Amino acid sequence: MKGHQNMLSIKHFLVVSMALNVGLISRVLFIGDIKRGDVFFCPESEKTLPVDISREENHVEKKKNDATSIEIPISPPQAIMAPQKDDGSVINLDHGDPTMYEKYWKQTGDKTTVVIPGWQLISYFSDIRNICWFLENEFADAIVKLHNKVGNAVTEGRHIVVGTGSTQLYQAVLYALCPDNSGSEPMSVVSAAPFYSSYPLMTDFLKSGLYKWGGDAHEFNADKPYIELVTSPNNPDGSSREAVVNGRRGILVHDLAYLWPQYTPISSPADHDIMLFTVSKSTGHAGTRLGWALIKDEEIARKMTKFIELNTIGVSKDSQIRAAKILSHVSESIDNKPESDQGGDNFFEFAYDVMAKRWTQLRAAVNRTTLFSLPSFPSGTCSFSGHTFQPQPGITWKE
Ligand SMILES: Cc1ncc(COP(=O)(O)O)c(C=O)c1O
Repeated sequence: MKGHQNMLSIKHFLVVSMALNVGLISRVLFIGDIKRGDVFFCPESEKTLPVDISREENHVEKKKNDATSIEIPISPPQAIMAPQKDDGSVINLDHGDPTMYEKYWKQTGDKTTVVIPGWQLISYFSDIRNICWFLENEFADAIVKLHNKVGNAVTEGRHIVVGTGSTQLYQAVLYALCPDNSGSEPMSVVSAAPFYSSYPLMTDFLKSGLYKWGGDAHEFNADKPYIELVTSPNNPDGSSREAVVNGRRGILVHDLAYLWPQYTPISSPADHDIMLFTVSKSTGHAGTRLGWALIKDEEIARKMTKFIELNTIGVSKDSQIRAAKILSHVSESIDNKPESDQGGDNFFEFAYDVMAKRWTQLRAAVNRTTLFSLPSFPSGTCSFSGHTFQPQPGITWKE
């Protein structure tokens, strides 16, 4: 009975909150013999069938609002927060955690192991000739090499600014884009709904006098300077996006965290003035807390660097060295053919298969209920992998 109540609470949350990690949803829908951490890597023989959730639907309130309303609680309902026995039937829907590529990284063994002697990397500085003086050259080289191989972003003529996750870069870029004169009113920061639920919180958290959250970009029509966040593929609905505000006085920030070939067909290199990326979505190394910004304008790169200097006096060198190793491995793995000595350990092929499998499972499970529906996306052929496929986002949007 207790388990049944938990199940109901979880499904209430699914209907009301909507923006979820695919893995977490699967964990609800495939709620059979699931052990912690193995839900996506279980051997064929251990696969569990989706439970028939349509049987439960009379107990679940259907969401009344339209799909664009943003009701993504950051603090989940108490029923989900309360400590529970971890028998695999309780999930925490407060956040996603991209551990789905762990199996791949385990297989790489020593090839991606980093050892840092106690005397190394102890200075604050990495390269004082660089605008971003705390950027490790090894990491910068690995970023450029990977983008060039994948063809998902232009790096030429760009300054790289490293941040403690793209979350810090987000704060840095807002600071950098606002005029210094404190007399003017705060600049509005907008994004087309549905948007990443952290944007409003991160924007207003410090109660900056420079900028403030301005809500849904579709509703913004003031004739004043603004910042529009364009997230593509979008969190939470996975759609490919372009700017929606038709204003003259806007600056665009492209959050391209999910613009990688396991999630969406790459068509051509993104070529925007401000682009944000992160290892947490590209390789799954969320705990390394590293993101990078590709910035055309030198002054903006300088101001972002200043923000990070005052915020954290740079970014962990240990993390950068580790990430450099990880990204370099990914670049090298792209060239490995299945018959090669490396055994065809192409990271993006592995990650693509993981996402494809999850979406197949998720669609099969959701097809068995009338409670939710999943978005469908137009297929495209990926210029990087050659696969023709429908985007398979790292997050999902359920109506
Ligand atoms: C669209 C988007 N941007 C940025 C982030 C934050 O990434 P990071 O882990 O690099 O701070 C996330 C995390 O979920 C995200 O979904």
